[in-house]
Amino acid sequence: MEKKNLDWSNLGFGYRQTEQRYVSNYKDGAWDNGALTEDATIVLNECAGVLQYAQTCFEGLKAYTTQDNRIVVFRPDLNEQRMHDSCLRLEIPALPKGRFVEAVKQVVKANEAYVPPYGSGATLYIRPYIFGTNPVIGVKPADEYQFRIFCTPVGPYFKGGAKPLTIKVSDFDRAAPHGTGHIKAGLNYAMSLYPIVTAHEEGYDENMYLDPATRTKVEETGGANFIFVTKDNKVVTPKSDSILPSITRRSLMIVAQKYLGLEVEEREVLFEEVKDFAECGLCGTAAVISPVGKIVNHGEELCFSSGMEKMGTITQKLYDTLTGIQMGRLEAPEGWIVEI
Ligand code: PLP
Ligand code: COI
Repeated sequence: MEKKNLDWSNLGFGYRQTEQRYVSNYKDGAWDNGALTEDATIVLNECAGVLQYAQTCFEGLKAYTTQDNRIVVFRPDLNEQRMHDSCLRLEIPALPKGRFVEAVKQVVKANEAYVPPYGSGATLYIRPYIFGTNPVIGVKPADEYQFRIFCTPVGPYFKGGAKPLTIKVSDFDRAAPHGTGHIKAGLNYAMSLYPIVTAHEEGYDENMYLDPATRTKVEETGGANFIFVTKDNKVVTPKSDSILPSITRRSLMIVAQKYLGLEVEEREVLFEEVKDFAECGLCGTAAVISPVGKIVNHGEELCFSSGMEKMGTITQKLYDTLTGIQMGRLEAPEGWIVEI
């Protein structure tokens, strides 16, 4: 198989149409078998449930070329489980068990030519999503749905690659208590658009959202969870029922303990204690681990001792170990790597 002739090392995080995508439809109470198609276009009724009441959820995962030239995906079973949880919360019918991972494999295989080569710094981003398709005008769940997966080769999510980010403490809330912050609903991202556009206009890279009930605890950003490192090298990550259970973050906690021998804590993190941490990073499929150099709260700057030039020492170790596992340089825990 010949790779596409792309400038792999200079890709941004953008959409580039690839050859095949997976489509499955739900009608009369059942999902069909699904198939690959070259058709990237969706034609919907004007009153489709997704268009009127945003009945949709999605996932994000990546395929990697390993050092020994295999193509692998990272913990797709956890994306399958999370999409299942999102569907339940949004009254979307669940997919048959195993269908998600099977469809991911088909899409990656069919677009092998777009999987960036080892060492290029790029990866293949895979985007599964489900949405209500039939006309809905009273507020209720749709009766018909479509599940699709496309993929697109991507570079770093944040411009500037590994340069430490500047984060704004947002005055907006991302998720309500007992709302939908813990699932990957499209609506969570729609409401983050005004805050992120505003933050970018003001020169910030991302927003830090606080817990909406008390505004005293750290939640997450619009597209990644936080990790902090204490001055005595403990890895701390916020625990909350209204943040997305990041697969990267859950994996990093295991990496920190099992590979690096570090102590880890998943607990409520008061905004008040952020100034005492030595390092900070954002973690997620798109973000991988992006270092944070500075957090700004209404003009007050909290600067991490790791600075604005490079990742903190522990953050760098976490990054090297996680990407080492994903790219086949380090042995992975059982079941983390699925070969295509
Ligand atoms: N938090 C939010 C709001 C996200 O959109 C994402 C991205 O998926 C994450 C966290 C990170 O999750 P994961 O590591 O599973 O990609
Ligand atoms: C991901 O990391 O996969 C996400 O969905 C985050 C999004 C902001 C791109």
